[in-house]
Amino acid sequence: MLTIKNLKKTYSNGVKALNDISLDIPKGMFGLLGPNGAGKSSLMRTLATLQEPDDGSAQLDDIDIINNKDTLRKVLGYLPQEFGVYPRVSPELMLDHLATLKGVTRKGERRETVDALLHQTNLYDVRKKSIDTFSGGMKQRFGIAQALIGEPKLIIVDEPTAGLDPSERNRFHNLLAEIGENVVVILSTHIVDDVSDLCANMAIMGEGEILLTGTPSDVLDKLKNKLWRTKIKRGDIATYRDQHQVILSHLSAGQTIIHVLSDDSPGQEFEPIDADLEDVYFSTLLSNGINVSF
Ligand SMILES: Nc1ncnc2c1ncn2[C@@H]1O[C@H](COP(=O)(O)OP(=O)(O)O)[C@@H](O)[C@H]1O
Ligand SMILES: [Mg+2]
Repeated sequence: MLTIKNLKKTYSNGVKALNDISLDIPKGMFGLLGPNGAGKSSLMRTLATLQEPDDGSAQLDDIDIINNKDTLRKVLGYLPQEFGVYPRVSPELMLDHLATLKGVTRKGERRETVDALLHQTNLYDVRKKSIDTFSGGMKQRFGIAQALIGEPKLIIVDEPTAGLDPSERNRFHNLLAEIGENVVVILSTHIVDDVSDLCANMAIMGEGEILLTGTPSDVLDKLKNKLWRTKIKRGDIATYRDQHQVILSHLSAGQTIIHVLSDDSPGQEFEPIDADLEDVYFSTLLSNGINVSF
């Protein structure tokens, strides 16, 4: 269990990136969902011991993350949002090197670890190629391979699917789903499907605050019997926004569909619908005054 209490961080330019964050994260896959600028990477970097909070605590089982960084690093696997420059070496050599740094010092054991990770991430066939020539999806799979070295207890992956095409995203989801249930895995993302596909528990973050936490089915319950849908003419959207709480609009077969939040039927043209996680996400941001354009 990872327990975060009252974490605060204000950058020197005055941006409050973490505004009193408290969160309990159990073992298994946890989705941290939020728009750009929400503070997700600031929180991930703090938990990965790469930056110091102004205040607050974070504890992984019996490890005090803020005051015992070296101990935490031994059980941490981290895939940052920006990996920086990819090295001009093979994944096989790089993983071998990183495994040595993580304390896998016996050569035979290291060989086994590296081979297993290359197979697991489907990079075995390209193990001798140079990482800097990899596609985005292959780079992310390499990123997961390095994060899995040494059986970590806390795995942090920050926006790992941004920029991946649908088949690579799917492949990456399968890879994450295979990580054991005995590990705390935090997946930060602005992509709702990442969370609905993978996560047993989740939080929505915006403007440095945790806006909602729960299981996906808990949070869906909040919109039960409150969500309505209708088709409108594109040009009428402003009128509907004036009269109703429109939480999202999208195009379907060339027509504009809107979802409206209301305790009672907002009008004859509306039909009641079941909410999905995207509805919960946008309604949570809107009800906290966070502007999302659609
Ligand atoms: N090193 C930094 N210095 C100043 N401001 C920063 C720094 N890193 C992030 N920010 C600001 O903090 C806020 C949160 O950013 P970030 O944690 O990257 O959010 P997210 O990962 O959810 O997009 C943003 O307003 C961002 O511009
Ligand atoms: Mg980020």
